[in-house]
Amino acid sequence: MTHMSPTTWIEIGALADVPRRGARCITTPLGKVAVFRTATDDVYAIDDKCPHKGGPLSQGIVHGAQVTCPLHNWVFSLQSGEAQGADDGAVRTYPMRAENGRLFIDASILAATTAA
Ligand code: FES
Repeated sequence: MTHMSPTTWIEIGALADVPRRGARCITTPLGKVAVFRTATDDVYAIDDKCPHKGGPLSQGIVHGAQVTCPLHNWVFSLQSGEAQGADDGAVRTYPMRAENGRLFIDASILAATTAA
C-alpha cells in the first residue's frame, strides 16, 4: 500500500530505539545526525559533530533540552543548536517529530545532494 503525503516527513525508526536522555545517530548526505530524546520524550535532531573540535554530541549528556559535549563540556541547546554560556558556536538543527511512537525527520535532509 502506498501512501502519498503532501508533507516531507520520513520515518526513521521507533521512539523506543532512542534511550531516554540519550541519542542515536543516523547517517545522512549532510553527515551524521544525532537524534536525541529528552527525559520528557521530546525529540530533536542536530549535527553529531561538535563545532569546537568535532566531539560526538550523540555521546554527550542530555539535561533538559540541552546536551553537553563529551569532549570539553560545551553545552548546546537541542532546540536552537546554539552553544550556551560563554562558548561560541552552533550546530545545525533539523526538523523532526515523534508520533504514535514513531520518529520522523524532514525528508529533504535525507534527499539532500547539496547543502544550502
Ligand atoms: S569538541 Fe565539543 S567541546 Fe570540544
